[in-house]
Amino acid sequence: MRIGLYQFAPEFGAVERNLERIGKALRGEAADLWVLPELATTGYLFADRAECARLAEPVPGPSTEALAALCRARGTRVVAGLAERAGERLYNAAVYIGPDGVVGLYRKVHLFDRERLCFDPGPDPFRVHELDRFRLGLMICFDWLFPEAARSLALQGADLIAHPANLVLPYCQAAMVTRALENGVACATCNRVGAERRAGEELSFTGRSQVLDARGRCLGQAPAEGEETLVVEVDLDLSRDKRITERNDRLGDRRPDLYFSGR
Ligand code: ACM
Repeated sequence: MRIGLYQFAPEFGAVERNLERIGKALRGEAADLWVLPELATTGYLFADRAECARLAEPVPGPSTEALAALCRARGTRVVAGLAERAGERLYNAAVYIGPDGVVGLYRKVHLFDRERLCFDPGPDPFRVHELDRFRLGLMICFDWLFPEAARSLALQGADLIAHPANLVLPYCQAAMVTRALENGVACATCNRVGAERRAGEELSFTGRSQVLDARGRCLGQAPAEGEETLVVEVDLDLSRDKRITERNDRLGDRRPDLYFSGR
């Protein structure tokens, strides 16, 4: 399967311009599934919850309709991060969109730092979606720090984890190698680049978007700075083989009866 990443610096608050840039980028090389950054339509650093509410959209809504139209025109699928308004609730969400519209919605479970001031934590369990004959899992950025997120998706048969991100800490790209390896799942992290200076804060984003196969091998990585489209061929059948030696299976050897759930 050909996986495309579009690493860019979304312009804060400029939803239409960001969608235009996404449209232009996806008109280049062909991919079966594109992964875009977290909050790709709005930018990241909301001043407060009221500003977030003004920029957030329902799902489905205008941005998901625009992305579905792009999927129809390009014969592809897209996973994109966006700010979702659902009644009074605001979610940092990832949508999985195909030519017919929204296929899957994930609301970020582990909110990072100031996100806690603007968003509600996602209330739903991690789940997987059909992607041709494979299964797709969704997680967002800081979810990388919680191995339970990727493991929950792997235990439901995820072959690929699409991972929109706005990373500011330097650890994730290396840590995701372990997420891929311990679960035997391909992982596509699409990070953003650039900086945002808003609400008395400044954040720089770390780029280095990457695609890992189910053995944790890096099949392609974008630079730390600068806009980049990266399209790589990933063998998702590899995710179906969980053996690590003749006698060991990543998921089958687990001993959940001996693990402490923390509850
Ligand atoms: C993050 O979760 N955006 C760091």
